[in-house]
Amino acid sequence: MKINDLATLGRFILSPECKSVVILTGAGISVASGIPDFRSPGGMYETLRPELITATEKQRRLMEINPTSVVSTEMFFQTAFPYLEVRRPFILGVRDKIWKPTIAHYFARLLHDNTGKLTRVYTQNIDGLTNAVGLPDDKIVSVHGTISKVACENCGQGMDFDSFCNEVETKIKDIYNPENGPRESQPIRCSSCGKATVKPKTVLFGSSLPADFFELSAQDLPAADLLMVVGTSLVVGPANSLVYSVPQSTIRVVINNEPVGEELGIEYGPEAERDYFAQGNCDDVFLDLINELGWNVDDIIDDLP
Ligand code: OAD
Repeated sequence: MKINDLATLGRFILSPECKSVVILTGAGISVASGIPDFRSPGGMYETLRPELITATEKQRRLMEINPTSVVSTEMFFQTAFPYLEVRRPFILGVRDKIWKPTIAHYFARLLHDNTGKLTRVYTQNIDGLTNAVGLPDDKIVSVHGTISKVACENCGQGMDFDSFCNEVETKIKDIYNPENGPRESQPIRCSSCGKATVKPKTVLFGSSLPADFFELSAQDLPAADLLMVVGTSLVVGPANSLVYSVPQSTIRVVINNEPVGEELGIEYGPEAERDYFAQGNCDDVFLDLINELGWNVDDIIDDLP
């Protein structure tokens, strides 16, 4: 079936031809919840302030040239402060549950409840909002890990999230609001190996993805009839490999503010055979799609931001 608009997409989802749907999400789906993405204007990389971070001049220069170094293995094993100082508000925000899922997160739940066709959500997001919509845990792969599980990056020793947050609050300076918390950052040490390498179990650039990403994607992708790509720039691999790992027959739908993944083979424009681009704010697009599907959002959503 050729998808031309949200009405045909809705019909395809409800048709017997569509048995398995895989969803790949990125930071764009949590922007409306209040969490900036990485690469848009105003996103984490553009707003990074290396001059505020506890680091050497050389490390700061590296962050200026390449902001992703803040979340890299190379930087983290030199010093944990850039990661912890930049992530401090995010870590404490997750603890305090200040962000709530929106319709873009809830769509997966509606799809699961109404059709049983949701095979998996692969989320690159570490904010836990996909886990907050009431889907069974085994429907979600946290491709880049999650903030709320903590371990030592050196020896793997786990740490309770609340205890870690207390350490972050009292030992890591708040670079954005210096009047909060300590004036200087102090190391957070692992109770097992003693190194200052304790952090949320998120994937750093230069380290490998969780095994379930490889195991489950190898199982899910060959059988996917529909791949929905939502709120991601598709510039980071191997998460972005999902778009070219599905069979030729799989319909691919991109729901995003801007076209993405052309270099990975996603086609735009009237000549696109199996790809459909729903441009716009993902919450608006999903609301329209949910209307086309005739589903009722009120039953499960009582607290949309
Ligand atoms: P990016 O910031 O790279 O891309 C977000 C995409 O979402 C962009 O294409 C935006 O235009 C789009 N977008 C933003 N708000 C939107 C909205 N409300 N509706 C629709 N589209 C919207 O974020 P990711 O692709 O998730 O990895 O980034 C991938 C990885 O790079 C992250 O997981 C992280 C980062 O470095 C690690 O830290 C390992």
